[in-house]
Amino acid sequence: MDINEKEAAPIGVFDSGVGGLTVVREITRQLQGENIVYFGDTARVPYGSKSKDTIIRFSKQIIRFLETKKVKAIVIACNTASALALDEVRETFDIPIIGVVVPGARAAVEATVNHHVGVVGTDATVRSKVYTTNITDMDPEISVIEKACPLFVPLVEEGFKDHNVTEEIIDHYLSSMKASKIDTMILGCTHYPLLQSKIRAYLGEDIQIVNPAYETAMDLQKILRRLHMLNPQSEQGYCEFYVSDAAEKFKQFANSVMPYDISSTKVINIEKY
Ligand code: DGL
Repeated sequence: MDINEKEAAPIGVFDSGVGGLTVVREITRQLQGENIVYFGDTARVPYGSKSKDTIIRFSKQIIRFLETKKVKAIVIACNTASALALDEVRETFDIPIIGVVVPGARAAVEATVNHHVGVVGTDATVRSKVYTTNITDMDPEISVIEKACPLFVPLVEEGFKDHNVTEEIIDHYLSSMKASKIDTMILGCTHYPLLQSKIRAYLGEDIQIVNPAYETAMDLQKILRRLHMLNPQSEQGYCEFYVSDAAEKFKQFANSVMPYDISSTKVINIEKY
């Protein structure tokens, strides 16, 4: 099969650290033939407590790095960077860039029946109100409540997803959501899908959970098809991993999230981009 240069080029995916692997996992599931270059900013995580200017600066550096890998499109897997930097980087770079917020918002708008939606995310994402803005732009009848759950990220990173303490923290953060009218809740942070079974058990079956990663991979496919850039190869594409620090820890985490083994992860100096 003839595959042209654009089709064969990888997709750049980035996150503040390991959480974006939940998005890579979904892309590899839905777009098997695509090659991926992933960057996790493990030296500077978390983004969720940082200012907009800093997150924009970090995102630009990462996109400049990914451009050196000749990527054909970029997926900002990080909700915080999607919330705070997407508009700015779209103006700066001449490459298709998609974030996770709009796909996640759209999925929730389609899923809610009673027009009450909850969103959980980092402090920065919740403060930006970007999910509320997108949802109410799509359907002004929907009321949205947002809640920052900052401890979920370290719980996942420290491997506490099956620990009892996680159940207590879920109760602490989500009791008001559970008691509210919401029938749909967006997991507006890359790490939260890794707690999905515990969150599902806590909320019960009446609240639908939206993981933006799924819709993001679908959007990516539509965009690549429209631009005639879908990779038609039938075998599994390659995935290269880069981080800004602690490659070994990243690799171990990646191997617990990804459906196949990650053989190598390279550390790069992101400050130089
Ligand atoms: N990747 C971030 C997000 O999705 C969570 C971790 C962080 O705070 O950097 O919002």
